[in-house]
Amino acid sequence: MDKKGLVAAEAIKYVNKGNVVGLGSGTTVNEFIKLLGTKEEIKKTIVCVATSIATENLARKVGIRVIDIDLVDRIDVTIDGADEIDPDGNLLKGGGGALTREKKVALNSSKYVIIASNEKLVEKIPDHMGIPIEILKFGAKSTIQKIEDLGMICRVRENFITDNGNIICDCIPENSIDLRETNDEIKKINGVVETGLFLDMRKIVITSDGENVKITSF
Ligand code: A5P
Repeated sequence: MDKKGLVAAEAIKYVNKGNVVGLGSGTTVNEFIKLLGTKEEIKKTIVCVATSIATENLARKVGIRVIDIDLVDRIDVTIDGADEIDPDGNLLKGGGGALTREKKVALNSSKYVIIASNEKLVEKIPDHMGIPIEILKFGAKSTIQKIEDLGMICRVRENFITDNGNIICDCIPENSIDLRETNDEIKKINGVVETGLFLDMRKIVITSDGENVKITSF
């Protein structure tokens, strides 16, 4: 089994019969979804909410029941991936562009489980990518200018529209930043929908180097 398979297999243990399950997005979560699709006994008792259209399509394809988030009164557990994970368990997400729905689902989940290969562990976020920021297309120019005024170099993701009909800007800080302060400042800008900084959330992080699986609680 490869890294993604190993963490997916571990994450299955966090899903119980009768659960409402949040499904994240990305290739690692896809492995989890495919595996969940084979667990007939659990599968028939659970309902899922999806963080992207791609996830919803895959889940349905493997026979998982997916319903609208507004039809559930709770989310027991969410399994999602991450692009970067710092030593405090803070996450950088949105490489796949699903960050807004991912954060909505994460913040409404009783348990949040992140699965990732060990390459996602970094000393400091952002490490090798910009901070993905979802912004409204309308008036994007002034929104981006205001993000840049915070000391960021922003690049609009080309040929990409989110499931919410918005654009993504990948923003690299020019200097070292305080994550919380920067996140708060970005969120105050009119036209910003959400950022890919997932800070200070309780979670379990499952990583693998291809041989062993490591589980850390934050
Ligand atoms: C999607 O928007 C992201 O937040 C994903 O969770 C992230 O890109 C992880 O994807 P992989 O599992 O494909 O690395």
